[in-house]
Amino acid sequence: MTLLVEKRGAAGWIVFNQPTKKNAISGAMWRAIPPAMEAFDRDPQVRCIVFRGAGSEAFAAGADISEFESVRSDRSAITEYDELLDRVLHSIQDSLKPSVALIHGYCLGGGLEIALACDLRYCGSLAQFGIPAAKLGLAYNVEGHKRLLETVGHAWAREIMFLGRRYDAFEASGMGLVHRVLPDGELEAYVDGVIETLCRNAPLAIANTKTVLEEYVKSEGEPDMARMRAAIERCAKSADYIEGRRAFMEKRKPRFSGK
Ligand code: COA
Repeated sequence: MTLLVEKRGAAGWIVFNQPTKKNAISGAMWRAIPPAMEAFDRDPQVRCIVFRGAGSEAFAAGADISEFESVRSDRSAITEYDELLDRVLHSIQDSLKPSVALIHGYCLGGGLEIALACDLRYCGSLAQFGIPAAKLGLAYNVEGHKRLLETVGHAWAREIMFLGRRYDAFEASGMGLVHRVLPDGELEAYVDGVIETLCRNAPLAIANTKTVLEEYVKSEGEPDMARMRAAIERCAKSADYIEGRRAFMEKRKPRFSGK
């Protein structure tokens, strides 16, 4: 099973389990998340939801790039994939139960998107963060930009996206990407304490805060969706995007031409 879903006491756990690929998230794993979230949402015994990666090397090193050629190459496949991601991230964000990302090691691309859809993020000191879309020629989605912007602000959002580099745990903490950095050996016990508190506190008070904060971050005025979609389309159709994913699979540096 590449996605483990289980209840431990009053917490629902969702574990990315593809350790040979640094827990990269395949289509099957993405698709299994919304039903798992729905089951936890319906279950009155579940008071919070925790995401983590199997082992301690990675939370998730992004979406599974080896599948991109088949599931994320032409426009309709990309739209389908983006819609799937949207469903997944909204199933986490819109849940009225609090969610926690417990982050060991790599937390990249789609892995960071999941963490950003969670309410709380705690990481070990060896964790690494990044969104390498610009290194892959990948058109990063609209709501992913919004979650990043709401979490770290304009200045960091631009640097993270433009440079596509990796940030260590302390840099991530400095920009507000995670709530707290713990020594790796102490992370799990710390998060257990957070889970205990979340499970003890009043569910409706937490649900109330989630609802009110979500309403406050709604944009004022409509963003120009057509303009955003056109930018995504141009990038998604580009030769550079083909080059980016091939270069990753062939373990070489990409040569981008801007076309
Ligand atoms: N998709 C598919 N496979 C991935 C992957 C991903 N996102 N991330 C890692 N893997 C695979 C590697 O291809 C490698 O497979 P192999 O053993 O068959 O060669 C295996 O996981 C181990 O990764 P490797 O690169 O050898 O480990 P590393 O410690 O040198 O580097 C990373 C780890 C995470 C820095 C590096 O794998 C990486 O950059 N991954 C891609 C991250 C990314 O761009 N994510 C965003 C996707 S949208």
